[in-house]
Amino acid sequence: MTHKIAVLPGDGVGTEIVAEAEKLLGALADRFGLDVEIERGEIGGAAVDATGSPLPEATLALSRGADAVLLGAVGGPKWDNEARERRPETGLLGIRRELALFANLRPAILYPELAGASSLRPELVAGLDIMIVRELTGGIYFGEPRGIETLDSGERRGYNTLEYRESEVERIARRAFEIAARRQGRVCSVDKANVLEVSQLWRETVERVHSEYSGIELSHMYVDNAAMQLVRDPRQFDVVVTGNMFGDILSDCAAMLTGSIGMLPSASLDENGKGLYEPVHGSAPDIAGQGIVNPLATLLSVAMMLRYTLDEAGMADRVEQAVASVIAAGTRTADIAGGGAAVSTAAMGDAVVAALDA
Ligand code: IPM
Ligand code: MG
Repeated sequence: MTHKIAVLPGDGVGTEIVAEAEKLLGALADRFGLDVEIERGEIGGAAVDATGSPLPEATLALSRGADAVLLGAVGGPKWDNEARERRPETGLLGIRRELALFANLRPAILYPELAGASSLRPELVAGLDIMIVRELTGGIYFGEPRGIETLDSGERRGYNTLEYRESEVERIARRAFEIAARRQGRVCSVDKANVLEVSQLWRETVERVHSEYSGIELSHMYVDNAAMQLVRDPRQFDVVVTGNMFGDILSDCAAMLTGSIGMLPSASLDENGKGLYEPVHGSAPDIAGQGIVNPLATLLSVAMMLRYTLDEAGMADRVEQAVASVIAAGTRTADIAGGGAAVSTAAMGDAVVAALDA
């Protein structure tokens, strides 16, 4: 069966990292018979420049027709002063929403050889392996009403709405429990139920769904405490499930614990296993075009694509092992070199491809 993959390079370092992903997919096709058909599309600032929209209809159609979407990154200073409907981020939020990619999986894994790059002491992060499951198409990011209005007094008032329906909480909770079943079997649900009604409903709903998953241990934590625990003793977490904005914040925090945001992949999945895969790091305009960006987060995103959408767990393992062996062998891009010798983006991609057979 041919898997259709829409590749959306986007902005900044996006082009450079998706080129390495295409190289990897090509190698998997040649050597292990992966059957993929790749088509490229525009998103983000690049799409604004080309079409006036950060998410053109053609890109949406391409992505809807694909089995999986691989995204580079969006955004950059060039578009920072655009109106919201022309901002690159609006394209990203739009594709998440339009494809109903409600489950965002953000692993934070520490590679032993990179423990020194963590902002925490090595003994606190050794063996760190957290999976953040972030609700991605609801909550305050999309709630209505929203806007900025001018009051009679002439003062302006900005407002957004934090809302969750039971059905939205149920499906993300199910995803978290299912993922935990294949890991250590522990889920921590993060909310602000001591203050917010929406969090109270979130907590009640997660508990109700939990009654169907007897083998999984469930705990709850307020978001402020969760932020503190992540930097105090991060290894207490296995799977963390939370809403859109809390997940945005906590996943950056967890990423930093690994010391190498350039290494972290992500998956955003719909109800049927279709997914959008992207590195957690952004478009890094400061280093774009120099051939020095770390492609490993994107290559690991390909591994997640193989696992969660293409049903090729064996190839996913192979890619993850290849990355681990390249790291163990001391190959480093500048972001993880700690000032030592660094290789280029393309050389890192080549090293992973070469390690696939090992
Ligand atoms: C992320 C990013 C996005 C978000 C931005 C770019 C809209 O921070 O994927 O975490 O807030 O979701
Ligand atoms: Mg974020």
